[in-house]
Amino acid sequence: MKSVVIKQPNELVIEERPLPMPAAGEVRVNVKLAGICGSDSHIYRGHNPFAHYPRTIGHEFFGEIDAVGEGVNRSRLGQRVSVDPVISCGHCYPCSVGKPNVCTSLVVLGVHRDGGFSEYAVVPAHNAWPIPDAIADKHAVMVEPFTIAANVTGQIAPTEQDVALIYGAGPMGLVTVQALKGVYKVKLVIVVDRIDERLAMAQRSGADWVINNGERSLQAALDERGIMPTIVIDAACHPSILQEAITLASPAARIVLMGFSSEASQIVQQAITGKELSIFSSRLNANKFRVVIDWLEKGLIDPEKLITHTFDYHHVTDAIELFEKDQRQCCKVLLTFSQ
Ligand code: NAI
Ligand code: MN
Ligand code: ZN
Repeated sequence: MKSVVIKQPNELVIEERPLPMPAAGEVRVNVKLAGICGSDSHIYRGHNPFAHYPRTIGHEFFGEIDAVGEGVNRSRLGQRVSVDPVISCGHCYPCSVGKPNVCTSLVVLGVHRDGGFSEYAVVPAHNAWPIPDAIADKHAVMVEPFTIAANVTGQIAPTEQDVALIYGAGPMGLVTVQALKGVYKVKLVIVVDRIDERLAMAQRSGADWVINNGERSLQAALDERGIMPTIVIDAACHPSILQEAITLASPAARIVLMGFSSEASQIVQQAITGKELSIFSSRLNANKFRVVIDWLEKGLIDPEKLITHTFDYHHVTDAIELFEKDQRQCCKVLLTFSQ
């Protein structure tokens, strides 16, 4: 089989590898489609501290089960599945409180273990989530990015009365907009970014109001309308955003951080306690595949609005370079494997 392998930072090859056999409790997935995410590019460029090389990247993938290991029901053969990249131990403290996404021995497919940019991938059977026939392949491959939004919103239980401010109109900002509008019916969702084309994408995904903070002050724009957000989600992830979020937030607001910056953020306690703000973080997803498959079945979200490009995997280098360079035109870039 062919796999997309990062041999070492900045060296990507399409390599012939032996067809893997599923061990006990595993299934083999014949990959059809995979999505490119910022973290794939970070591993490629050597910017992901968790990555070891060589590595088959890819943690957003969809395909068909074509072999099962011992103890896995043979009725699963031929099943269409999306794969949850989070592999956890099931018994440590975070696992015991429903947070396998921060398991003390967390393994993420495509990061710590070979992932889905490959003709075949072997994964634990319970990580392969069956996809109902009514959900198209290219929507099924988008389940993982939407689980990030399911995890973020799961932390804060949004209501229709909320006013949400989302920093960043990249893929992560857009999945969050769709969850807040489509699933939770939040009355006002505001998105701030510096790129007009991305803000236009946010509007297509349901944002009620977009602000370009490269052109005008966000604080002034909100003040003009007397708006204090009750939810702030940082899907832009610059270390300076937390303090601004604390300043702009309504008393009793919830703030969610998604970033992995290792730089210090300078924050002042007074406004946090003075407004009794709740500050959450969100990493990957904790058992959210079922939730997102349900959203898709009910038509509450529309992955189509995020997909801007599709490439055959032989052109994976072009696909990643386009994804990295063209933030104005690119949102989700998909790779096709066997069709
Ligand atoms: P992206 O880079 O495509 O989008 C970020 C957007 O934020 C860009 O459109 C950029 O113009 C905008 N931006 C940057 N600084 C800004 C500022 N100060 N004000 C307003 N807008 C600003 O990235 P993507 O894929 O949407 O991911 C966003 C972030 O989420 C990344 O930092 C990534 O590491 C993180 N992430 C976190 C996950 C988690 O589970 N916690 C999962 C996936 C991504
Ligand atoms: Mn991703
Ligand atoms: Zn665990």
